[in-house]
Amino acid sequence: MKGRILLIDTLHPSFKTTLEANDFVVDEGYNLKKEEVLLIIDQYNGVAIRSRFKIDRDFIEKARHLKFIARAGAGMENIDEAAAIHFGVNLINAPEGNRDAVGEQAIGMLLVLMNNLIRADKEVRNGIWKREENRGLELKGKTVGIIGFGNMGTAFAKKLQGFEVEILVNDPYKKIDTNEFKDVKQVELNELIASSDIISMHVPLTEETRYMVNDHFFKSATKHLYFINTSRGKVVDTNALVNAMKSGIVKGACIDVIEYESTSFEQLDASSLPEPFQYLLQSDRVVLSPHIAGWTHESNEKIAMTM
Ligand code: 3PG
Repeated sequence: MKGRILLIDTLHPSFKTTLEANDFVVDEGYNLKKEEVLLIIDQYNGVAIRSRFKIDRDFIEKARHLKFIARAGAGMENIDEAAAIHFGVNLINAPEGNRDAVGEQAIGMLLVLMNNLIRADKEVRNGIWKREENRGLELKGKTVGIIGFGNMGTAFAKKLQGFEVEILVNDPYKKIDTNEFKDVKQVELNELIASSDIISMHVPLTEETRYMVNDHFFKSATKHLYFINTSRGKVVDTNALVNAMKSGIVKGACIDVIEYESTSFEQLDASSLPEPFQYLLQSDRVVLSPHIAGWTHESNEKIAMTM
């Protein structure tokens, strides 16, 4: 036996079968509460989790034989990275597994929005046939600003190829490979906001990015733009987005992640949500989805195989 691994969240079965074929013992703890996991975690050499609960310092300290924490997905904000480094625990995530899903959904939502398809669909179903009012806009010739150029941002840029858009990127931590991304221009954040017709967020949630999209952010805009968020809800101050929509700076928004989601991303009680969110719910200039941009049948398996 090479080691014992605890699965805290359900994953694609290939993860378990591959590990078992490689002489690991894999236990399924999908229904164990965090307190119950804490009682047994010192028996394990590895854990695999999506986002069911936070892995904090206390957890890592108690997991005396832990060698790795595998995050079945991209975002690492639920894992105490400093504690993992301190206790010599390796952190693994698998953004390569869901980046294509995110890139495709961001484009899908954008096309739906720019072609008024949600409104038009509702109208046709209600016997209303409006053509001029639902005339759309083309992506061709537009400037798309991508904030964050890691796995998700680069996947989105790749999917945009063929739409004949100009792409601007802002990522202070990435140097763009100009061989791979010949037509992508790296610019300062203010320039990106000022020049873009479409802005798409692809940053992780960190202290630096928390609420980076705020009133000040939209003040730099010079065009009426479309806004896409498939990254993390708390990157955006929803009130600021709504203000920007009311003033016309933001013409429409594609929102897959919401400021008020639970940390496991599993719940959102729409009825008790603050006023700005009610505005988004009622607006036909908004396309909403329940944090599924990275969730495809393919990504489920690709995440498992990447880990
Ligand atoms: C991610 O970070 O991979 C996505 O946001 C999805 O996360 P989840 O699968 O843990 O909900």
